[in-house]
Amino acid sequence: MATLELGILASGSGSNLQAILDAIAQGTLDAHIRIVIANVSDATALKRAANAGVPTALIPHREFSDRQAFDAALAQNLEQAGAQWVILAGFMRVLTSEFLKKFQRRVLNIHPGLLPAFPGTHAQRQALSYGVKLAGCTVHFVDEGVDSGPIVVQRAVPVLDGDTVESLSTRILHEEHLAYVEVLRWLAADRIRWLGGQDGERSKIAILPA
Ligand code: GRF
Repeated sequence: MATLELGILASGSGSNLQAILDAIAQGTLDAHIRIVIANVSDATALKRAANAGVPTALIPHREFSDRQAFDAALAQNLEQAGAQWVILAGFMRVLTSEFLKKFQRRVLNIHPGLLPAFPGTHAQRQALSYGVKLAGCTVHFVDEGVDSGPIVVQRAVPVLDGDTVESLSTRILHEEHLAYVEVLRWLAADRIRWLGGQDGERSKIAILPA
């Protein structure tokens, strides 16, 4: 089993990035973060990466004429850094099919909702306003859609009376950190398999026993 060579894309606070950095530092995840790329300069993820001695790049999407050009710059930076896997950790841009072809079956995302319910932004707010009693997070492979790719793992939390977006988000985020590291451990151990996907059937993910 080879060490995972990761490229992490982030737009925000980077707490999922931190969970991955911590697991690597503690020796519980066999991975190496080659680069952390943010599309906005105020992403705290950049600071977290720099504090851990991980190379960073700021690639502001606003400076590109279109999504293709932005994604080409992302791909170039990831490839140059030697990233084999692309880990979206609070990255707020939808990737083009050209990008996904370059990293086929090698892009993972985490979503703060139990997909396929409440895709897109503000999943926690959507869950609260619908009135569901269970919320949670989903780690999934990325396809051309929004939060629509094959699901690797989900973790659920209760929605409590009186929950606010903040209190529910905090409860979910705790599970996100566990879920993402768990999936990366499976990846490092080569325990993730794609099933199906023929004749228009949806691809599914199986986790091999340890
Ligand atoms: C998480 O809730 C993640 O699911 C969503 O954006 C948030 C990012 O949090 N995609 P962080 O930047 O990892 O702290």
